[in-house]
Amino acid sequence: MITISQPQAGIIPLCERPAWKALQQHHAKIQNVHLRQLFAEDLRRGEHFAFEAVGLYFDYSKNRITDETISLLLELANQSGLRERIDAMFGGEKINVTEKRAVLHVALRTMKDELIKVDGTNVVPEVHAVLDQMTGFANQVRSGQWRGHTGKRVRNVINIGIGGSDLGPVMAYEALKYYSQRDMTFRFVSNVDGTDFAEATRDLSADETLFIVSSKTFTTLETMTNARTAREWALQALGDEKAVARHFVAVSTNTAEVKKFGIDTANMFQFWDWVGGRYSMDSAIGLSTMIAIGPDQFRAMLAGFHAMDEHFRTAAFDRNLPVLMGLLAVWYNNFFESQTIAVLPYEQYLKSFPAYLQQLTMESNGKHVTLDGTRVEYQTGPIFWGEPGTNGQHSFYQLIHQGTKLIPCDFIGFFQTLNPLGDHHDLLMSNVFAQAEALAFGKTPEEVRAEGTPDWLVPHRTFEGNRPSNVILAERLTPETLGKLVALYEHSVFTQGTIWQIDSFDQWGVELGKVLAQRIIPELEAAEDPSLKHDSSTNALIRRYRNLKGGAARMKKKG
Ligand code: F6P
Repeated sequence: MITISQPQAGIIPLCERPAWKALQQHHAKIQNVHLRQLFAEDLRRGEHFAFEAVGLYFDYSKNRITDETISLLLELANQSGLRERIDAMFGGEKINVTEKRAVLHVALRTMKDELIKVDGTNVVPEVHAVLDQMTGFANQVRSGQWRGHTGKRVRNVINIGIGGSDLGPVMAYEALKYYSQRDMTFRFVSNVDGTDFAEATRDLSADETLFIVSSKTFTTLETMTNARTAREWALQALGDEKAVARHFVAVSTNTAEVKKFGIDTANMFQFWDWVGGRYSMDSAIGLSTMIAIGPDQFRAMLAGFHAMDEHFRTAAFDRNLPVLMGLLAVWYNNFFESQTIAVLPYEQYLKSFPAYLQQLTMESNGKHVTLDGTRVEYQTGPIFWGEPGTNGQHSFYQLIHQGTKLIPCDFIGFFQTLNPLGDHHDLLMSNVFAQAEALAFGKTPEEVRAEGTPDWLVPHRTFEGNRPSNVILAERLTPETLGKLVALYEHSVFTQGTIWQIDSFDQWGVELGKVLAQRIIPELEAAEDPSLKHDSSTNALIRRYRNLKGGAARMKKKG
């Protein structure tokens, strides 16, 4: 039996905490109160439930809350030991109990002179040593000093990785493309589907291409398969094993496997087991980001993360962005029984942000047992999803406005655009404000009727409103702002996980499928029909696949 780290000791089960019970009663009282009423009762509500911290303006007034809701939620945070948990995380305690690991992504963005210890060793110098190594390498690649095997400079960088070794780099590259070196091409291969690799490389020359093989474990099936294919692709063109050293670098915690793969460990960038995959975009996993935007901008992004870390660690909970966001997520998830949260960035460069958040939030909080292994009696992590505005408005917003589900939304917008073009930005931002307003206040049947709408059409054109949202505004999308936004969600996830008393840093749920796939691979590839011992459905699917998988090849031959 694993001992739970000290901060969780003495915390009573969630449903027995007095604040939880009080919130249940409070919810029964206010669940039908309309935002229209709340705004009418307090003409300054829009300012009352809004504040600015670390350069982000957070308006949470359009939530179905009162002052009492917030004080009860804050009380719940206290009774859940949130302060102690935060201190434990920042203090390097092994709060990832099922993997017996510290959780120190915050150490990746600390200042050089800070001290964070894991097992008695200060990890900050190691972090900065890797950052310096990355800086040297990124500068060489960006300046053209780093040459490929044939002497040509690197024009294309392909990151091979999956999950946290892909989604962060993809999202950061897309988000910060404006700041990127435009004469270089950046691509990302993650899927074991060969199409991903084929499409990423079809128009590139191997002699100008650098592969970054990013894998914490360096054993992940998808990444290692793609890395081997990349090596074959490069060697076919370059014809010399020595080329690997100039065209492949690795980011990993596993030196032995990197060596085995044939990558010179001089070209390996380390990180540590106390960095979770989905929390790793600031580590060497961010090498492609650093090459794209340059070391100075990368460090500016880290400074943004650090600013949010410090805010989370030190700000009073009632003025603490991640704490409030996390508590509001709990409020809807557990009391209103909302199943999902929509994240709606009104910024095209953030188009991959929702996909990034899906791993961050759902791999972290999609858990069904508490830290001590007891099955939870309440809902845990909500489903996160979203699309950039205004595109989403023309697809799924209908359901958010008039469907039967309550979907809290996070709107993210910027005062200034990076690409000023006519009145585009005003039009974009008018939609942020309009959508949040429409969701909250809706349109009553009386208002619809007053417009001359015939009676039969009135129900269809009525908007109930009372649909909650947060609005988060920042000056403009910079590396620093991106860091703040990502850290905001990281710590909100941590806040939620603490309330639910789960381990937000393990991911056992991804294991079973991986293991079963390993068993099925030889069954698909065997020359003779294998004896299959799965259930009847899986057996039949495998047989059908074996019988028909040559189809494409046969069709090609025929053609
Ligand atoms: O999907 C499970 C997972 O372990 C993620 O947590 C991780 O980000 C991803 O696989 C990739 O792992 P690795 O970096 O070890 O290849």
